[in-house]
Amino acid sequence: MNINGTPYRTIWTAADGRTVQIIDQTRLPHDLVIVDLTGLTEAARAIKDMLIRGAPLIGATAAYGMALAMAEDTSDRHLDTAATTLLATRPTAVNLRWGVERLKALLAPLPEAERLEAAYAEAARVADEDVAMCAGLGEHGLKLIRAIHQRKGGPVNILTHCNAGWLATVDWGTATAPIYKAFDAGIPIHVWVDETRPRNQGFNLTAFELGQHGVPHTCIVDNAGGHLMQHGQVDMVLVGTDRTTARGDVCNKIGTYLKALAAHDNGVPFYVALPGPTIDWTVDDGVAEIPIEERDPAEVTHITGALAEGPTATVRLTPAMSPAANPAFDVTPARLVSGLITERGVAEASRAGLAALYPEAAHGE
Ligand code: MRU
Repeated sequence: MNINGTPYRTIWTAADGRTVQIIDQTRLPHDLVIVDLTGLTEAARAIKDMLIRGAPLIGATAAYGMALAMAEDTSDRHLDTAATTLLATRPTAVNLRWGVERLKALLAPLPEAERLEAAYAEAARVADEDVAMCAGLGEHGLKLIRAIHQRKGGPVNILTHCNAGWLATVDWGTATAPIYKAFDAGIPIHVWVDETRPRNQGFNLTAFELGQHGVPHTCIVDNAGGHLMQHGQVDMVLVGTDRTTARGDVCNKIGTYLKALAAHDNGVPFYVALPGPTIDWTVDDGVAEIPIEERDPAEVTHITGALAEGPTATVRLTPAMSPAANPAFDVTPARLVSGLITERGVAEASRAGLAALYPEAAHGE
C-alpha cells in the first residue's frame, strides 16, 4: 500500500540483503520513520515495544528476527537463544510462535554453513505468503461486502476495531483487505474507525491508512459502536484476530467482545478476517486458554498526541494516585461470530467449519 504516493510493505530487507527495515508504527500518523533492525535484540525490541504490531506482522518480524540471529551466529545455541528471546516478547498473537517454530524447524536440521541463506530466504517466503493470504482473503470478504451492497444499495457501513490493516500485516491487511478490494471495485463503502484506547491503533493507524487510500471513514470513540448499530448505521462489523481457536473463538484487541455483543443484539453481521497461521489448533476454549497480554498501566493513565501544528506530547489523564489495569486483548466466543474470512474461503466459526477449510491442520497432518 502507499504512504504519500510511495509504495511500502511493513517489513523488507535493505540493499545489503541483511539489514531488516520496518516502519516505526509508534510514530504514525504524525511522522514516517524507517528503522533498521540489525540483530536479534533489535528485532525482539521492535516486537515488544510495538514498533511493529499486529499478529501477521509479528509473525513475519519473528521470522526475520531468526534470520538476523543467524547473521550473528549460526550455532545451535544461538538458534535456541533466538527462539527463546523472540517468544518472550508478546504472549497473545499466535503468529509469533508460528513464525519462530517455522524457522527453527527449517534451520535446526541444516548444517551451520547453510543456515544464514536459508533463514533469509524463508523469512522472505513468510512475508510473501502473508501478502498472498491477505490478498486472497480480501477476495472472499469482497463477496460479502458486494452482497450487502446489492441487497441494501447505498454505501456499505463497516465498523472496525483496532488496526487489522496493511500496517498489521506485510501488506493488504486482514480486516482491511476486503475493504480495499471493495473500494477499488467501486463499491461505495464507509468505515467507522474505533479509537481503540489505550494505544489508539484505530485513530493512529487504521484512519491513517484508510485516508492514504482514499477510503471514506469516520473516527469514533470506542463506546459509540452500540449506539450506531441501534440506529441502523452499521451494516457489518469486520475485525482481525491475534489468535483464533480450533473451535472458532476469536481473541482480538480489548473491546472487540463488546462490539460482538452489540452486533449480536442488533442483528449486525460480525465477521473476523484472518490468515491460516492465526489459527491455534492446540487451543479450544479461548477464554480459558489464551494468554492475555497485560501491558504497562501507563498506557491507560497517559495519552500521546500531536500538539496543534507542533510536536507530539504525552499527558496524564487519571488522578496521580489512581491505579490502572491494562489487559490488551479479549476473547469473543464463536457463537457471536458470523463467519471467519480466510484465504481459503469463509468458514463457519466452529471446529467443523475450520476443519473443512484446513483438513491437514485440523487432523494434525
Ligand atoms: O496490540 P496490537 O496492536 O498488536 O493488536 C493488534 C490487533 O489486535 C489486531 O486486530 C490483530 O493483530 C489482527 S491484525 C491483522
